[in-house]
Amino acid sequence: MRLDKFLATCTELSRADAKKALHGGRVKIDGAVVKDGGVKVSASMVVSYDDQPLTLSGPRYIMLHKPADTLCSTIDEHYVSVLSLLDIERRGELHIAGRLDADTTGLVLITDDGQWSHAITSPKKRCAKVYRVTLAEPLSAEAKAALEAGVMLNGEDKPTLPAEVEMLAPTQLLLTISEGKYHQVKRMVAAVGNKVVALHRQQIGSVILDPTLAEGEWRHLTAAEVSALRP
Ligand code: URA
Repeated sequence: MRLDKFLATCTELSRADAKKALHGGRVKIDGAVVKDGGVKVSASMVVSYDDQPLTLSGPRYIMLHKPADTLCSTIDEHYVSVLSLLDIERRGELHIAGRLDADTTGLVLITDDGQWSHAITSPKKRCAKVYRVTLAEPLSAEAKAALEAGVMLNGEDKPTLPAEVEMLAPTQLLLTISEGKYHQVKRMVAAVGNKVVALHRQQIGSVILDPTLAEGEWRHLTAAEVSALRP
């Protein structure tokens, strides 16, 4: 496909605006500015617009470091949606694979591939999520054992599945769970008589939040990360 057509197809630019973007040096192929819209684009080339890689129709996979006071749903009057942090084309086609509470920080995966996100969020798929949990009170040995064995949550008829607990400090732990019930971590901690004062998701499956991403920053997943979470 010609570069000018490729650009107009992948973005919301009209053919005329795509031409202007090309002449303005905003389009690169494999890192080099290309101004000629007639250049043929092949599958192996990375085309970017304002340094954002463009994909023709293939699915997109993104990791975002969610700051506190942002929402994993659409905007309400108090908080902005994490999706608004993505300076990316066709943002409206993306959805979040596994929500975090407004006050929770950390790893959020965003995609337009529904099958892929289902494997992450469906309780049946048992995709593990690792949270760094800061508590109001030190965690007792009994409370740790209860979390590991499974606890009964308010309003549920079955206990939670066994969780992994690694103590980082008396009031801080790494908790690995694989169900994804509503407010699960906070409710588990409440069930053992303690309270969460800070919550951060650092891992989903084998994908770890990139430590180079500051809060609010994002990047595309690598092919290996995408495959590691594939159903
Ligand atoms: N569990 C919670 O309680 N909150 C989150 O944001 C994620 C898991």
